[in-house]
Amino acid sequence: MENKIRAEFSKHFPGTMYASAGRINLIGEHTDYNGGFVFPGAIDKCIMAEVKPNGLGKVRLFSIDIDEYCEFGLNEEDAPEQQWARYIFGVCREFIKRGGKVEGFDAAFAGNVPLGAGLSSSAALESCFAFAINDMFNDNSFPKMELAKIGQSTEHNYCGVKCGIMDQFASVFGKKDQLIRLDCRSLEYEYFPMKLDGYSLVLVDSRVKHELVDSPYNKRRESCERVAKKLGLETLRDATFEDLDRIQNEISAEDYKRAHFVIGEKQRVLDVCDALTKGDLETVGQRMYQTHEGLSKEYEVSCEELDFLNDIAKECGVTGSRIMGGGFGGCTINLVKNDLHDKFIETAKVKFNEKYGHEPKVYDVILSEGAHRVDE
Ligand code: GLA
Repeated sequence: MENKIRAEFSKHFPGTMYASAGRINLIGEHTDYNGGFVFPGAIDKCIMAEVKPNGLGKVRLFSIDIDEYCEFGLNEEDAPEQQWARYIFGVCREFIKRGGKVEGFDAAFAGNVPLGAGLSSSAALESCFAFAINDMFNDNSFPKMELAKIGQSTEHNYCGVKCGIMDQFASVFGKKDQLIRLDCRSLEYEYFPMKLDGYSLVLVDSRVKHELVDSPYNKRRESCERVAKKLGLETLRDATFEDLDRIQNEISAEDYKRAHFVIGEKQRVLDVCDALTKGDLETVGQRMYQTHEGLSKEYEVSCEELDFLNDIAKECGVTGSRIMGGGFGGCTINLVKNDLHDKFIETAKVKFNEKYGHEPKVYDVILSEGAHRVDE
């Protein structure tokens, strides 16, 4: 009898289901916090949560994937210990700081965005809850861009990562079959249909995640900020290679390399958007290889395993390949001709396994909806 009552209770008084997606980025890496351009899209892997107000003034959460429970109040001093819960606590706090309303709620959530693969599972989690809180308690009065900023501020203020806006933006704004070019300075954006006649995008996940001791991500950002400051600019958005050469003797060799990458990457995004519009996928691919080279040698956020995957792609004749996301592990994104698809995947699996003792995981990219309410 008891089980029947419980099952009927949740059937008749369910919460509301929300979802938000992980993302890919075709090109434009480490440009977002430099006021540059990025070119991401949301994918068919998401975080999904059932959420229900509880009238208790506190949040009670259950993470299905890690089988953990957590509860917290809504004041600054109530921050939970568990990292996964801090993403949601941060979102609540950032709403409150912006004058938004957050009441107590219960939620259970799960996801299929692979963790540590560079597909932004944390942005998906933040965006899912930002969307839910906006819908449940704020009559959707916060514009979508503000939801992305709430996720970004959560990373800055509750997770210690001084990230840009790309991941949360893509997770919130994603649309089926579309990539989005975002100007991270003006926040203007444009959708581009992903027309890849005869090609596909394939993610090859190395399944390695290197320890990020000493916050190397934040250090990259600091390098860029130092160079911009030296040039009297707010960000590297307006810097040119000539500007950089002019101050070469006044900055460290390391800062020079970092800024050199960012300045080159800015143009590569524009080239790729242009080439994609013209259906010139060879140019798209070339720029992807150049980005990989830059991320590996200048920005130094690649690793042995990802360089190896990039080499395999090159050897197989794959059109474009590069490390994707923040770096230090995760996956490569590959632009592959359809008739090469199976051979490339097979070769990557065999060779990687021979060298590192495990196979990489492979995902075909399907561009999908960003944050949304699942039940209408
Ligand atoms: C991470 C960050 C983003 C962006 C990328 C690199 O995913 O969260 O803001 O900087 O790295 O492009």
